[in-house]
Amino acid sequence: MGQPLNKVLSWLEKELKDVNPEACRLEAELLIAFVLGRERAFIYTVDYLSEEEIRKLKFFLSLRRKKVPLAYIIGKKYFYDLELIVKRGILVPREETEILVEVVKSTIEKGNIKEIVEVGVGSGNISISIARQFENIKIYACDVSPIALEVAQKNAKKHGVFNRIQFFLGPFIYPVLHRGLSFDLVVSNPPYIASWEVPYLQDEVKKEPWRAFYGGWDGCEFYREFFKLLKDKKKGMVVLEISPFIYERVLTLLKRSFDNLVVESFKDYLGYNRVIKIKWH
Ligand SMILES: C[S@@+](CC[C@H](N)C(=O)[O-])C[C@H]1O[C@@H](n2cnc3c(N)ncnc32)[C@H](O)[C@@H]1O
Repeated sequence: MGQPLNKVLSWLEKELKDVNPEACRLEAELLIAFVLGRERAFIYTVDYLSEEEIRKLKFFLSLRRKKVPLAYIIGKKYFYDLELIVKRGILVPREETEILVEVVKSTIEKGNIKEIVEVGVGSGNISISIARQFENIKIYACDVSPIALEVAQKNAKKHGVFNRIQFFLGPFIYPVLHRGLSFDLVVSNPPYIASWEVPYLQDEVKKEPWRAFYGGWDGCEFYREFFKLLKDKKKGMVVLEISPFIYERVLTLLKRSFDNLVVESFKDYLGYNRVIKIKWH
């Protein structure tokens, strides 16, 4: 016979309090919406949930108790207004990465940018956001993860920009260099969590792919390799996400790698350095 929606909702919200106290109501609504196969707003038009639906909710609750990220369970995550497909094996897009996208957008608006490389495309959140706004920009999106490329391609199709992004499997900007393609700007939200941070990470983050977030002993392994590769280029422009913990270290690496360098820093909503824009000539 099932149970009334209100009763199920309050039960699930209460159960989820231990897992995510700040957003237990939202999570309960999203899980119910997922089980019903509808949008969140739709759930309030339903009076009863069936025994089968409640059984599914109990199973998803058990996954959340094991700290499986909600985005992996419901298979999606919003980035700006984009609903992106997400699954185990790729990083769940984070709100702070919208700052990187804003910096890239204003760089495109100011400058003469025609071709962009994204290193570490993940779900495709960055490249797709840019491609949707700038129809004449060509984007080369690289990742070392085949799962990331598969999901990013699905998301690009879903949002109608598949023909404006070329996807390449391979590290850093090598796939683009090997093909002799030119580019004006490189963007990346690379792995940057240092070894010392790992014990403090939320259990949910530890369920995400190691390769997507771990940046080596000091969090800077990616940047070190990346700058080595770029310094042979006579001039260039790069926009990178960083963590506030490695900001100073990345600046030192940059100064060691490039001579005529201009660095701009951008803060996140909490006032921490989160994005850097680098130009050299
Ligand atoms: C922090 S995630 C960012 C994903 C997505 N762009 C976002 O903002 O959510 C880093 C991504 O870089 C990829 N990656 C790690 N090292 C790489 C490398 N050396 N070259 C290319 N991609 C790399 C990972 O597979 C992962 O998808």
